[in-house]
Amino acid sequence: MLPKLFLLAAAALVSVNAQSSSAAPSGSGFTFKETYPSGGSKPAPKPEWMDLLKNANITDAPVLKGGEDGPTQSGDADPYCDWTFTGCTRDDDIVACPKGQWGITYDDGPTEFSPKLYDFLDTTQQKATLFMIGGQVVAFPDLVTRAYKSNHEIAMHTWSHSYLTTETNEQIVAELMWTATAIKEVTGVTPRFYRPPYGDIDDRVRSIGHALGFTPVIWNHDTDDWKVAEDKSFDEKWIDGNATEWAKEAGTAATGGISLEHDLYQKTVDAAIRILPTLQKAYKVTTVGQCVGQPSYSDGGASNATSSASASASSSVAASASASAQSSSKPSDGSSDAVSPAGASSSSSSQNTESGASRTAISSAVLVLGASAAYMLI
Ligand SMILES: *[C@@H]1O[C@H](CO)[C@@H](O)[C@H](O)[C@H]1NC(C)=O
Ligand SMILES: *[C@@H]1O[C@H](CO)[C@@H](O)[C@H](O)[C@H]1NC(C)=O
Ligand SMILES: *[C@@H]1O[C@H](CO)[C@@H](O)[C@H](O)[C@H]1NC(C)=O
Ligand SMILES: [Zn+2]
Repeated sequence: MLPKLFLLAAAALVSVNAQSSSAAPSGSGFTFKETYPSGGSKPAPKPEWMDLLKNANITDAPVLKGGEDGPTQSGDADPYCDWTFTGCTRDDDIVACPKGQWGITYDDGPTEFSPKLYDFLDTTQQKATLFMIGGQVVAFPDLVTRAYKSNHEIAMHTWSHSYLTTETNEQIVAELMWTATAIKEVTGVTPRFYRPPYGDIDDRVRSIGHALGFTPVIWNHDTDDWKVAEDKSFDEKWIDGNATEWAKEAGTAATGGISLEHDLYQKTVDAAIRILPTLQKAYKVTTVGQCVGQPSYSDGGASNATSSASASASSSVAASASASAQSSSKPSDGSSDAVSPAGASSSSSSQNTESGASRTAISSAVLVLGASAAYMLI
């Protein structure tokens, strides 16, 4: 159950405008109003975000020490239901789709390799759940817009891609809220789903996420795809081999699946493209929100967002943002009564029209190694 960890001394993928075929002035057509923390850094929260925790029941579990292989636990007991430690889950965790269905998820994007994946998904009209890293959203807003307009489910994968159980309550709030704020600014909607990096979640992390209106999504099928770029002993055919096995199990397995893949490297995108048809033949492949019948966003949006069931409307940050404007092309049913500490920022009035030119520029983005954060690839 323990995911293998891989450490990269990297931080942010930064869009560099190397080639703009049609005189696009810069790599992106989108201008953010908010000033964001640098990609890959561990941010601090806005003070008002901490107010969202005041009336919440935050589990008083210790902040774990981070070791080379991730958080370190003492003893065998698992009083706080730590998934990386024991595989423990709680009822609110989303781990699998119902029998016969498969939630297809891609983490760590958007990156320069995402357009190839998005193109393929478009050709087969497949909708996916995309767990995006905050700094990548800021680096590639045009790709976020593209993905949202294609009706993929936009979800969060934190700001710095750290082990959340090793972070303080303040840091966890910041990880989630900065990412939600960036996605809201680009799309006009606030995501409900987050995937803790490495699946690293315990009751303290859960309670903070819940207080902010967010729902955690783990997985029950791991492709280990990131190893194709990082582990020489990994045979990329294993990805295909596992997908074939999973497809065969469709009839006998007690539940459906949620798989973990990444649009992080060329090779992981290529593998994703190879195995999707295999899964599609065996399962009804959907977004996570669709297979579990939950809305993707707390304040409107394309995918299942009109549902008033919206889990968290009350406490959610998200609920908040709504006060502000509608997003570009998507209808929002955001209630204007919500006052958001968080959303204060967002007035997604600036429109983002994605142009072919900007995509070209994006695809020429280069990887820039940042200074600080340890960045792990799960
Ligand atoms: C707070 O959460 C803990 C653990 O989840 C639970 O045992 C306790 O009853 C809760 N307290 C309240 C006031 O809801
Ligand atoms: C599935 O992947 C694992 C490694 O993650 C590998 O050891 C195994 O052989 C793969 N299964 C198939 C059928 O390829
Ligand atoms: C919305 O959720 C319902 C289940 O509550 C599901 O039947 C429906 O397909 C979903 N719609 C979209 C667009 O995802
Ligand atoms: Zn990840």
